[in-house]
Amino acid sequence: MKHDLLIKNAEALIFKNGQITKEQMSVAAKDGKISHLGSGIVDATKVVDARGLHLLPGVIDSQVHFREPGLTHKEDLESGTRGALLGGVTSIFEMPNTVPATTTEDAFQKKMEAAAGRCWTHYAFFVGGSPENVESLKYLEQLEGCSGTKIFMGSSTGSLLVEDDPTLERIFRSGSRRVILHSEDEYVLRERKKIVLESKKVTDHPVWRNVDSALSSTQRLLALSEKTGRPVHVLHVTSQEEMELLFREKQKLPKFGRVTVEVLPNHLSLWAPDCYERLGTYAQQNPPIREKRHWEALWKAVNNGTVDVLGSDHAPHTREEKDKEYPGTPSGMPGVQTLVPVMLNHVHEGRLSLEKFVEIACENQRHVFGCTQKGRIELGLDADFTLVDLKKKKKIENSWIASRVGWTPFDGLNVTGWPTHSILLGEVRMQEDHLIGSPAGKKVHFQK
Ligand code: DOR
Repeated sequence: MKHDLLIKNAEALIFKNGQITKEQMSVAAKDGKISHLGSGIVDATKVVDARGLHLLPGVIDSQVHFREPGLTHKEDLESGTRGALLGGVTSIFEMPNTVPATTTEDAFQKKMEAAAGRCWTHYAFFVGGSPENVESLKYLEQLEGCSGTKIFMGSSTGSLLVEDDPTLERIFRSGSRRVILHSEDEYVLRERKKIVLESKKVTDHPVWRNVDSALSSTQRLLALSEKTGRPVHVLHVTSQEEMELLFREKQKLPKFGRVTVEVLPNHLSLWAPDCYERLGTYAQQNPPIREKRHWEALWKAVNNGTVDVLGSDHAPHTREEKDKEYPGTPSGMPGVQTLVPVMLNHVHEGRLSLEKFVEIACENQRHVFGCTQKGRIELGLDADFTLVDLKKKKKIENSWIASRVGWTPFDGLNVTGWPTHSILLGEVRMQEDHLIGSPAGKKVHFQK
């Protein structure tokens, strides 16, 4: 049999005996699927000699805001996925806080139509839970290409908000797939906003949106999950207190059971007050970057298994918007393009192993979201890969960023480790910082 693509001499990160392990092997693809793993002579139309490189399953970023429709001066599906592919990400799941918000079938299908033929990576979309669409959520979450229901318990960018437990409980009872939650307690946030209205200092961002505001909402959502049995995925956890709570909670449950947890590269790479002193409102995001003890706790949570998934929470805002006076500035930073190099640099610095990175950036997404055709190098699965050079030294610079907003909080960061190829369904679509061909992303299929 002639394969379409052969990647030879790579150190592949495969799933073996229940864990991710490195193995030198050849990997081939045919008709978009992985068609050969191992040694021996393989005939293929195209050959990539990956000597010295590591072959990872295609990286999945399960939290991005690409702003289309309605806010396309910040980003759109084409520019967002272009940045993703350049950064070694091959699939993205996009958030519903667009304008209009993705809360109806019509809005969801319009996003799907807008994505077709314009995405450089594979794509899926979350629907937003709101008091108005509770009953339809159980139907919406089953739509092809839907990655699940997202709830904002505290207000952030956009109008989506479910602040009260009775509505949350109704949403938890409307559907069965894992619900993903932005966990900040709106009541606490409202009560404390006066702190920043008075001080107007971005260094007070984590003082306003304090640990209690996050902890209280995480406690509430865990109680509701236990009461209703609905699985939850707690997005961008930022505090030591929440991680300790989630660790204890998860001890009682099976792996990928009722509770799963996400952390962001931003919270693993920046800390207060340093980030606010250096970057000002450009470091403002929700939930906020906190002091160093939280940074330490998040790393501990990555390595003790509390964290299941890494997402970038790519949330671009223009410089003009970020340059306004705090707290009138929007929260969020771009991140989809820097996720892989920033994390490979952490691998280089010894904070996590490459195997652990693959676990939280590829493998675990299969279990948390049900995208079982992706995230693993295994015969018969989708031939999406991220090839990386762990020794390559590069500087992350704003000029490399494809996002419409043209900046990254990591501008000037020297990293060791870089994505060299992004491969979608057996075709090389990014090589050495250059895109190849036209947008070839397809919608992601979920096992429900
Ligand atoms: O900082 C944030 N920005 N946090 C969010 O949850 C939303 C995001 C955005 O969409 O801008």
